[in-house]
Amino acid sequence: MTEGPKQASIHVMLVDDDREMRESLGLFLTRSGCLVSAFDRAEPAFSALEDQRPDVIVTDLRMPGLSGLDLLAKVRAIPGAPPVVLVSAHGDVPMAVEAMRDGAYNFLEKPFEPRRLLTILTHAAEAHALSNQNRRLRARLADLVGLDHTLLGESRVMKDLREDILDVSDTEAPVLILGETGTGKEVVAHALHDLSSRGAGPFVAVNCAAIPETLFEASMFGHLGGAFTGATRAQDGYFVEARGGTLFLDELGACPLELQAKLLRAIETREVVPVGGTRPRSVDIRLVSATNEGLEEAVAAGRFREDLYYRLNTVELLLPPLRDRREDIPLLFTHFLECHAATYGLEPPALTTEDMATLMAHGWPGNVRELKHAAERRVLAARRGRGVGVLGSASGARMGEGGGRPLKEAMAVYERTLIIEALKVHGGGMDAAADALGIGRRTLNEKLVKLDINRLDVVGRQE
Ligand SMILES: Nc1ncnc2c1ncn2[C@@H]1O[C@H](COP(=O)(O)OP(=O)(O)OP(=O)(O)O)[C@@H](O)[C@H]1O
Ligand SMILES: [Mg+2]
Repeated sequence: MTEGPKQASIHVMLVDDDREMRESLGLFLTRSGCLVSAFDRAEPAFSALEDQRPDVIVTDLRMPGLSGLDLLAKVRAIPGAPPVVLVSAHGDVPMAVEAMRDGAYNFLEKPFEPRRLLTILTHAAEAHALSNQNRRLRARLADLVGLDHTLLGESRVMKDLREDILDVSDTEAPVLILGETGTGKEVVAHALHDLSSRGAGPFVAVNCAAIPETLFEASMFGHLGGAFTGATRAQDGYFVEARGGTLFLDELGACPLELQAKLLRAIETREVVPVGGTRPRSVDIRLVSATNEGLEEAVAAGRFREDLYYRLNTVELLLPPLRDRREDIPLLFTHFLECHAATYGLEPPALTTEDMATLMAHGWPGNVRELKHAAERRVLAARRGRGVGVLGSASGARMGEGGGRPLKEAMAVYERTLIIEALKVHGGGMDAAADALGIGRRTLNEKLVKLDINRLDVVGRQE
């Protein structure tokens, strides 16, 4: 016979001035699989609380110094503190009542059956774990809602991306953000920083493509006075500037090959040596980088060191181009219209259905940045009292595929894209695809017929 599954061990903080009691109870609890830290006074127990983070506290009521009730009061004042179970030899019922009213989890009179205490402790620890989990979830939800306002988008990919950002924001793992120009890589880098425990520290963004190769090392690692011509005064580099915070290496692919080895060493040793110096300085930073070119090709072509690449891409976040998440266009455009209108103290201009169809059909090679500029132009045009098309006055010259098509046709193109995408994602599953699209299965079926989409074709076409 095998033993039943062992429950996760409970960490019990045991406080009792009676040594015999402490030892026998401690032994019993340890044998029952608990982790026990025992104290003979309330004061040291309380001091150890933050360090030890027990799941539950068992305390005697009457002790020299702080009593069990005093300890209860102090513990209860800490948000998220563990539950307290009181034990008394005195059959002190009025005190027990008071303790329960003050928030004790339970109360036991000596002598008691140790198994009964174990049951109470198990329940208390479970309740504590649950309420902790709830608190974490609530905090996470608040973060997510906050992120909602900086990284907009209701498409599945954007929702998933926000989740991923929250998941990795509080780790120290280096993150590589991939995406075309204007997709929001810098927004993501900033969000990772803001949401991390380093949020109060500096966020230093460095565009690797903007630093002349000859100045690269000094810019990154700093230099001493007189280290080279023109370096009159000593200067900290970006690594030192970002200490305690996040260093964002933008356009990582542009980092000169000759300096990549030094970069790697600095990252691995968490130390930098300023140009002209010998003494290393320690740098505690979190690294986030971004690229809009495929670094794998750069690695294959020998333009980027493979070891540095693997050092920096522990976590990869991919920002999809706007054309692949067209359902986000209305939300984003309306948002930018409102922002720009507010800047100029105007009412946001009303959009016609033609406007919307044009926006939907455009290719957006410049992604969200292009969309943002289009919104600004639209507001400026409205300010000048010019009623123009949403992408400028020229007759659709700037529009991408589908520009100038009648609304109905443009919308059908869009609908078709969305449906095919959903079917692909869900491997042709009708229920799941309908769910993802927020429509009923029957409606989806009707649309397949109307838009002439062959479901098997769609799934078959997948690589
Ligand atoms: N999801 C989004 N929600 C709100 N604003 C966004 C979003 N994505 C991008 N933006 C805005 O679009 C503009 C471009 O974003 P960002 O600078 O982060 O792009 P990028 O990927 O770093 O581009 P590049 O590769 O050209 O540097 C910024 O003004 C940014 O605030
Ligand atoms: Mg950028």
